[in-house]
Amino acid sequence: MMDKRWVVFVFLVVGLLPPVFCRAAVTGDCSSCHTMHNSEGGAPVAHTFKITGGVDFSPTPIRNLLKTDCLGCHSSAGAETIGDLGGQQVPIVFNTTEPTYPPDGSTTSTLAGGNFHWLLSKGGAYGHDVYGIAATVTTPPASAPGGVDRTGGCVHCHGSLATSQSGCEGCHVAEHHIGGNAFADREQGWYRFLGSVMLKPANFDTSPEGVTGIESPDWEQNPSSTQHNTYQGSIGPYSSYLESGSINQKCAGCHGRFHAETLSTSTWIRHPVDVAIPNAGEFVGMTTYNPLVPVARRNVSPADANFTTITRGSDLVSCISCHRAHGSPYPAMLRWAYRDWPGIDSHTLQPAFNGCAVCHTNKS
Ligand code: HEC
Ligand code: HEC
Ligand code: HEC
Ligand code: HEC
Ligand code: HEC
Ligand code: HEC
Ligand code: HEC
Repeated sequence: MMDKRWVVFVFLVVGLLPPVFCRAAVTGDCSSCHTMHNSEGGAPVAHTFKITGGVDFSPTPIRNLLKTDCLGCHSSAGAETIGDLGGQQVPIVFNTTEPTYPPDGSTTSTLAGGNFHWLLSKGGAYGHDVYGIAATVTTPPASAPGGVDRTGGCVHCHGSLATSQSGCEGCHVAEHHIGGNAFADREQGWYRFLGSVMLKPANFDTSPEGVTGIESPDWEQNPSSTQHNTYQGSIGPYSSYLESGSINQKCAGCHGRFHAETLSTSTWIRHPVDVAIPNAGEFVGMTTYNPLVPVARRNVSPADANFTTITRGSDLVSCISCHRAHGSPYPAMLRWAYRDWPGIDSHTLQPAFNGCAVCHTNKS
């Protein structure tokens, strides 16, 4: 039987585009990303990225009649972190040549999510172990650190992202044909396509819930206190799947509120998340947004784009205040050389930056 998507595809190609494609973010020829017959001059076009270099051509077509898969478009053998795909800019998340970290605005500057480079070069602690880069896992553990134990097919994603049923799509619900606005909610396929994986519809519709935020157009290749992503946060409690729109709820979906426990005396036993930066004590010294140590904001609206001043008493500590989502040159995918401070940063070989002191201003 003919694949339903193929029928839709032909339908679109003959020009009867349904309204949803009127707000397409994707521009350029369909053929820079799709292949009708998986054949050019008799040879297959469809291919997957090989971490050892080059590509593997595939005689079987790829889903959605794409020329390649997630890694095929979002990886590079060089160090440049924004690629070109038939005139369309493509953010690179896996460079086999080491990109620049911390980001310095150059063309090889690591993007906001970090990079899977160090997962390959330094090991599992330096990035999420994703399918296609990490060794494939056949029997995933029941949970990620801090997460609820799962059974059966639920151990994919929750226990490992290195299975063919998880990988990039363990976190992302890709929506390349919609969006284009800097402020991303459901209409734009959610912030960085972080729609709910649990609520992903079977048709081509967007997930009803997802992460809200404001997208820097260069994916933070050149971030500053006046040019950066804006992440939605929430103090919770969380009850379902991304109903808060918070990027922390995305992480918490697999990790629980890692670091968030307090004793009954309200003494913190692990580092707090989803708590407001107090407008008191040492925190009054925290004034300017630092994209190396971001905070999350409640109820993000377009007016929050590139906000420069921290709103103490409201802006929140986030998982991504300290971690990169994909990977970094530091263990536990940390954003700076936490373990090296106050010595020499083992990656940059410069005096280590103290990211903790961006908030804890007495500790600098
Ligand atoms: C820059 C790359 C790119 C270009 C150009 C592109 N597409 Fe796509 N297309 C994708 C990706 C990636 C997917 C997989 C689903 C997703 O991520 O949205 C996709 C999915 C689809 C689907 C499956 C339905 C869906 O939305 O999931 C159809 C149909 C489609 N594309 C048609 C087209 C047509 C027609 C054109 C030309 C007007 C086009 N595409 C141009 C990347 C592209
Ligand atoms: C055929 C090439 C192609 C494939 C395959 C592809 N992408 Fe993309 N992707 C692009 C391009 C081009 C962009 C930049 C334009 C855009 O934002 O839609 C992009 C953008 C993105 C973004 C950033 C969106 C934003 O807010 O800027 C994410 C996240 C993403 N892709 C994830 C994925 C995942 C996950 C897969 C696999 C399911 C995938 N992509 C497959 C070409 C591709
Ligand atoms: C394809 C990856 C994937 C699979 C498979 C998967 N999950 Fe999830 N799950 C996620 C992600 C990602 C989140 C975070 C929220 C979101 O994106 O929907 C999540 C969140 C959750 C949450 C909310 C957080 C919490 O702990 O209360 C529950 C409950 C849950 N999943 C249960 C399950 C169960 C039960 C199964 C098996 C039937 C399952 N998941 C299979 C990716 C997955
Ligand atoms: C553990 C969840 C998770 C997995 C797995 C994951 N991503 Fe992401 N990705 C994110 C988050 C969160 C962001 C937003 C980062 C930010 O803005 O700080 C992101 C951002 C992106 C972006 C935008 C560029 C950037 O760095 O901000 C692209 C492109 C992307 N992801 C592609 C991929 C691809 C391709 C894969 C698989 C190889 C993948 N992601 C696997 C969570 C994930
Ligand atoms: C779909 C489930 C899932 C989501 C969502 C998720 N993680 Fe993970 N995470 C895992 C799994 C599984 C592991 C253990 C194996 C590995 O490293 O991939 C892990 C490991 C980690 C580690 C330990 C370092 C390492 O590589 O071993 C950190 C830190 C981490 N995650 C942070 C985050 C942050 C921050 C977010 C949100 C941006 C997030 N995770 C979202 C599944 C998830
Ligand atoms: C204030 C900074 C900070 C915040 C906020 C933070 N973490 Fe961490 N996290 C760390 C540090 C530091 C480590 C590593 C400890 C070490 O290696 O000495 C770590 C380690 C981890 C690990 C690895 C544990 C292991 O067993 O390998 C996971 C998973 C993790 N964090 C998830 C999260 C999640 C999910 C959130 C948000 C709910 C979060 N973190 C928020 C600083 C932070
Ligand atoms: C994004 C801002 C931010 C960053 C980065 C940050 N912290 Fe915190 N930290 C806080 C906030 C807010 C609290 C809670 C303060 C309160 O409620 O009184 C806190 C509490 C703590 C506490 C508990 C103090 C107590 O009252 O029990 C310790 C210890 C701590 N942080 C250490 C660290 C270390 C070590 C790092 C670096 C790995 C770090 N913090 C990074 C914001 C931050």
